Amino acid sequence: MAEASERRRLVKTVIGVALIGIVACRGSSRQSEAQGAAPPPESEAPVALNPDVPIAYPPALFERKVEGDVTLRLFVDSTGKLIPESTRVAEPSGYPALDSAALAGAPALKFAPAKRHGIPVATVFLQPVEFRQVGTTRTGTVTLPPPPAPALTPVLPPAAAPPPAPPRPRPVVRPPPDTTRADTTRVRADTTRVRPDTTHPEVPQHTKPYQNVLETIGWTPLIRINAVTRGIRTPVYAKAEFFNPGGSVKDRIGLAMIEAAERAGKLRPGGLIVEATSGNTGVGLAIAAAVKGYRCIFTMPDKMSQEKARLLRALGAEVIITPTAVPPDHPDNYIMKGRAIAAAHDNAIFADQHYNPVNPDVHYHTTGPEIWEQTDGKVTHFVCAPGTGGTVSGAGKFLKEKNPQIRVVAGDPVGSIYTGYARTHKKGDGQPYKVEGIGGDKIPTSLHWDVIDEWVVVSDKDAMQMARRLSKEEGLFVGGSTGVNVVAALDVARRSDDPTALVVTVLADTGERYLSKVYNEEWLRENQLIDDSRPTVARLVAAKTGDAPPLIHVAPEASVRQALNLMTTYNVSQLPVLEDNDGVGAVSEQALMARAIGQPKILDSPVRDVMDPPFPVVDAEAPVSLLTTLLSRTTPAALVRRNGKVVGIVTRYDLLHQLAGIH
Ligand SMILES: Cc1ncc(COP(=O)(O)O)c(C=O)c1O
Repeated sequence: MAEASERRRLVKTVIGVALIGIVACRGSSRQSEAQGAAPPPESEAPVALNPDVPIAYPPALFERKVEGDVTLRLFVDSTGKLIPESTRVAEPSGYPALDSAALAGAPALKFAPAKRHGIPVATVFLQPVEFRQVGTTRTGTVTLPPPPAPALTPVLPPAAAPPPAPPRPRPVVRPPPDTTRADTTRVRADTTRVRPDTTHPEVPQHTKPYQNVLETIGWTPLIRINAVTRGIRTPVYAKAEFFNPGGSVKDRIGLAMIEAAERAGKLRPGGLIVEATSGNTGVGLAIAAAVKGYRCIFTMPDKMSQEKARLLRALGAEVIITPTAVPPDHPDNYIMKGRAIAAAHDNAIFADQHYNPVNPDVHYHTTGPEIWEQTDGKVTHFVCAPGTGGTVSGAGKFLKEKNPQIRVVAGDPVGSIYTGYARTHKKGDGQPYKVEGIGGDKIPTSLHWDVIDEWVVVSDKDAMQMARRLSKEEGLFVGGSTGVNVVAALDVARRSDDPTALVVTVLADTGERYLSKVYNEEWLRENQLIDDSRPTVARLVAAKTGDAPPLIHVAPEASVRQALNLMTTYNVSQLPVLEDNDGVGAVSEQALMARAIGQPKILDSPVRDVMDPPFPVVDAEAPVSLLTTLLSRTTPAALVRRNGKVVGIVTRYDLLHQLAGIH
């Protein structure tokens, strides 16, 4: 009891100090060694903690709550070394950018530097922990009990045939152990979860302010797909790239391509960024350009969503729409046009995502390591459809380097030339398709074919339907190309049929960009991308029985006698009068008979002289319900038009039959 209250008192003391060194050991011998350590020399005094100033590197500071109010603070100098009072350790971080070999020293504390949301952070594995208070009114130590293992070990299914364990990067700050809980939660019943508890994530997000929005790019969540995978034993997870500030995976390359151009001296303050983009890369570039003060011009094919162009303009970019239906080498092709604009300006770059090595490279350094870390190295399949190929090539390469047994699978829309090229190495002819951002009709150098083990071709219809299901059944509001990824991922998962495998795919962008397409039933219907059970006028016409042609009509110059003969022959009681495929009038058996009885001569008069006003016209795709309001005793029929042409007629009689279910 006394020990506990002393501990609590010291804990409070630790919180109150501004400068704290940390000494950590794995065993008691280490502890005593640490307790004997000298205070830091004045010249190497750690930076003062100011909670309003986010961690900057260099010098860097690691800070984390460990127990109740206790905060661990760890100081790192500009070379990545822990400052003297913090005992240091070497553990390969797996991140070439920050080589933790620099952290040479006693292996008392495991330390791995990395970047999270652009901010350098450190992962510390402590057991037990001692705090030393430095240079203030009081000195003391606090020893925490050993952390329970689950805090450091995500619970995963045991691998069927475990691959050779590669060294694991630990780029994420792991949460401190929950010392208030007994260590009984080590293994959960649901052994397929990547993280033990997805409702209350282990790693608190956004605990520090950011200097600008660019620092929030990357480290997107990995989310399990649950509903659309029903009946499939292999777990499927998806990297939710729509969490990036620009709503897509392309934020990663937007920032990276600009910073690479800056480093190479190709882009100087006030410069111009030009790109041929279907939207998302433009958003990524525009966000970075807005923060950094560059001008942007984007060229974009006209098949792309209006929302995307509006969004780019909202972010301050200029957008030039080019025709989709031109060959890739045509000057009006969006890439050719973008290049020409950049070439015509000074201090301008063409970002060139299809041919820029920075594109796959940034996925090699971010997306791949994140997936590896988030699955604790248990990923067995990575599924992603290439557009430029940057994502699948970069992340796929990283994952294969970590574990050569990982299979990289590319989804591809029907109509893209990629799958054929992968097989034959010949550039075939593409066909138009509707999903945006993926597939292609040219061969980009950012697509590294050797990384991809397998291709899965997915139709527009399946992709759109899957995107809509993901929104409705998983709460994941995504674009059509994500539908390709998930359809392909489910195909892989189904074939693998292995609860110990782990498929990862990509939720590439937000569905908000496709409200007028993927999420617009009219557009889907127009493009035959929806299974529509709703009764339409066209269906009513098609359901008509008998041998009569779909449209029996007379010309205005035909005689009344001919019109009556036609009605008798086909057993109909009214006829439209058409001229140049346009309804100019209508005649009915009842009206003609009535007049002919009084004036027999009228039988030889042209229909034009006696006809009534024309029937109304309805579109073939209009719902049948429209006819119920339109047709009446005085309006007994309507003409049916498809693609501007009158193709049929529906009558009250047809409608009554349909409503009564008579066929
Ligand atoms: C909208 C969208 N953009 C881009 C990509 C892939 O990007 P890239 O191959 O250009 O890296 C995907 C892949 O799923 C996507 O759906």
